[in-house]
Amino acid sequence: MEQVTLYNGVKMPIIGYGVYQVSKEECERCVMDALAVGYRSIDTAQSYFNEEQVGSAIVKSGVPRENIFLTTKVWLEHYGYDAARKSVLESMRKLRTDYLDLVLLHQPFSDYYEAYRALEDLYNEGKLRAIGVSNFYSDRLVDIASFSRIKPMVNQVETHPFNQQVEAKKWMDKYGIQIEAWAPFGEGRGGLFENSALVEIAQKHKKTTAQVILRWHIQRGVVVIPKSTHKERMQENLNIFDFALDQADMNLISELDKKQSSFFSHSDPAMVEWFVQMVEERKGK
Ligand SMILES: NC(=O)c1ccc[n+]([C@@H]2O[C@H](COP(=O)([O-])OP(=O)(O)OC[C@H]3O[C@@H](n4cnc5c(N)ncnc54)[C@H](OP(=O)(O)O)[C@@H]3O)[C@@H](O)[C@H]2O)c1
Repeated sequence: MEQVTLYNGVKMPIIGYGVYQVSKEECERCVMDALAVGYRSIDTAQSYFNEEQVGSAIVKSGVPRENIFLTTKVWLEHYGYDAARKSVLESMRKLRTDYLDLVLLHQPFSDYYEAYRALEDLYNEGKLRAIGVSNFYSDRLVDIASFSRIKPMVNQVETHPFNQQVEAKKWMDKYGIQIEAWAPFGEGRGGLFENSALVEIAQKHKKTTAQVILRWHIQRGVVVIPKSTHKERMQENLNIFDFALDQADMNLISELDKKQSSFFSHSDPAMVEWFVQMVEERKGK
């Protein structure tokens, strides 16, 4: 399994398995399938409400904990120092582990500085092997990289052929922060799997468009965490190390960039209000 090396020396598999929108009912089976076909990195989050199922799958799989790179993310309602610290310890309990490989702040809103201070302390205590952020556009990223004690090691952002994050990646590279793609397939939105340029490249290499997309990511040095609930697709998505895209293929794919989200912009004030409302609603539960 190819790995990247974070700036603190920690190695992270370049491909992992993401469990967003994997239901509680299916999650344990899915993570066990993913581990069985060879994934050694799992990406979950407090807000996916499936950490317990991820934890039990890891225990049941028999794969030694130290062979798995385990990531979770702190959700907004747990921001602030004390709440963030408590929530990470609770995530560890649910994930049945006494350390985490990577913990990210999920969104750049609310009291994320104090939440980040809690991650820094947990890192210094040896409970977290790496810390980072998610959805931090370049302005927020440069800010936290400059005013934190420990620069984020990873920034997980929406990245796929329709939203390539070329400029954002330059900023991450400048600060030595590893880019990790969420929705590496853009969830297939906008006909990505059927795109004619990708289909042509896939036929040339006798691969699927999904494999071409993932290969394009890793050749750019982008960590990917594709999600599938189907074991055969999990296997297909992992089977990307026996071919390489040439410069012509890379150039064709770079032309697909629409330079905009297939989902929503984290800079849109109406979206920020939507997050605020979600936090308020969850407080009431
Ligand atoms: N930090 C954040 O804010 C954030 C946001 C979103 C996601 N994420 C992380 O990123 C991970 C991946 O993102 P995502 O789940 O949103 O989207 P994605 O991985 O881009 O796409 C998942 C979709 O692609 C389908 N698929 C997977 N492999 C396929 C294949 N080989 N052929 C055809 N279709 C295939 C899946 O269907 P089936 O399941 O039916 O196979 C599913 O509908 C998440 O699970 C999560 O861990 C993070």
